[in-house]
Amino acid sequence: MVARHAPPSPHATPLPGPVSIPPVRAMGLSFEDLPRHWFFGHPVHSAVVNGLSLLFPAGERFFIRSVKHFEDRIGDPALRAAMRGFYGQEAHHQKEHHAANAAFERQGFELASFMRWWERFAFEEIEPRFSPEIRLAATAAAEHFTATLAEVALSDGTLDHAHPAMAALLRWHAAEEIEHKAVAFDVLRAVDPRYRTRVIGFLVVSAVLAYGWARAVRHLLAQDASARPPLPTEARRRLPRVIKKVALRLADYLRPGFHPEQHDNRALARAYLASIDRLTA
Ligand SMILES: [Fe+2]
Ligand SMILES: [Fe+2]
Repeated sequence: MVARHAPPSPHATPLPGPVSIPPVRAMGLSFEDLPRHWFFGHPVHSAVVNGLSLLFPAGERFFIRSVKHFEDRIGDPALRAAMRGFYGQEAHHQKEHHAANAAFERQGFELASFMRWWERFAFEEIEPRFSPEIRLAATAAAEHFTATLAEVALSDGTLDHAHPAMAALLRWHAAEEIEHKAVAFDVLRAVDPRYRTRVIGFLVVSAVLAYGWARAVRHLLAQDASARPPLPTEARRRLPRVIKKVALRLADYLRPGFHPEQHDNRALARAYLASIDRLTA
């Protein structure tokens, strides 16, 4: 008789437990002398990252609400502590991105109409339309997006072409995104481990972020009539590689046995955060 083998379980390797999140680091960054084209000296590069900054305050508020909703369902004290660490970090990210966004306004950009639209879209159209489980799954997927972008930001040297205040904001934010990358995912595993929920959350947040980001960039570029020189050669050369790496990483989220800790990028975050912790100690 031929022995029948069960298919390998996606959870055959034990998954790591929650990683503790350190106390918040209050950065208090100043964007006083930020030039309009602070990234590669280029209006498009700057608008692409500024657009992301416009999405963060409401986006991160949405993430906190989505995770907090399930607080009563989580019994593991380590995961509960990690959830509190997650709220603290995301709240501080909002604060610093507000400061950066205020600097864009001082440069002459009108942001209020976009912010009103984005808040309404997030909290009046998206939030009521989906179940708490799908909102949590969307948050877990968004955290994978931010951790993926964070790894690029901390490893490929692109931020060497940014104004120092924006480079500091983005590197700090990136490093903390890696620190808390698994929190929402672990909460989702605890309350709704179905693969289907994870995939729907991924699809929802991909569509919402792509749409919101595109509108934000368009809103900014419509207000910047300055000449758009060709992208620097180095950026042009690097872009396809970065896009391929990000796309593969994002797609990996759809692998049934995926867990954020399978992407080993914590050393990058630790190295950068050690330099901040020395400064703020
Ligand atoms: Fe964040
Ligand atoms: Fe995050």
